[in-house]
Amino acid sequence: MSHMEQDIAKILFDEKEIGLICDRLAAEITRDYADSERKLVVLSILKGSLPFTADLIKRIPLPLELDFMKVSSYGSRTTSSGTLNKELDLNRDDIEKIDILIVEDIIDSGNTLSRLKADLLDRKAHSVKICTLLDKPSRREKTLTLTPDYSGAVIPDEFVVGYGLDYGEKYRNLPYVGVLKPEVYKK
Ligand code: IMP
Ligand code: MG
Repeated sequence: MSHMEQDIAKILFDEKEIGLICDRLAAEITRDYADSERKLVVLSILKGSLPFTADLIKRIPLPLELDFMKVSSYGSRTTSSGTLNKELDLNRDDIEKIDILIVEDIIDSGNTLSRLKADLLDRKAHSVKICTLLDKPSRREKTLTLTPDYSGAVIPDEFVVGYGLDYGEKYRNLPYVGVLKPEVYKK
């Protein structure tokens, strides 16, 4: 069995740094929603945002509910652009009364989240905001104006894994975020 560490070129954020990022984001979120009269629903996007969601919500001392969706988008790399594939959908009858905070691991092209946000607003969610751990703005699809409301860190255009992020479903359980050695995905 190969060791995951051997495939990592460098560590971008270790556990301590991730903790500090979560502290800051949770403080911003707590400040912004503290006076809201609506129900706050943290919508964690499976699978990658699971570790981040767990660390984040423990730091938000407000009443909130936790929900999940599993989505993918067929964007510029296929012909069927514009399609949001909902493998697990949000199923609530109070959507018009809630503030939704989407929690995502990384924004790359922005296709997935812009479609998801539009979908939730179409369904008349009272508000929809986005919290992402990582953002690669240099990769954003030119036509999209998507910017996260809460962003842990902006990173360059490198493929990262760990702390929920995968390559071929592997590396999600690394406790840090690291850059994957290019030879691993060229194999
Ligand atoms: P987008 O629709 O291009 O923004 O895609 C975002 C999704 O692509 C994320 O939820 C990840 O699953 C995946 N992704 C994008 N960049 C990376 C990366 O550097 N490492 C791991 N997954 C990534
Ligand atoms: Mg993935």
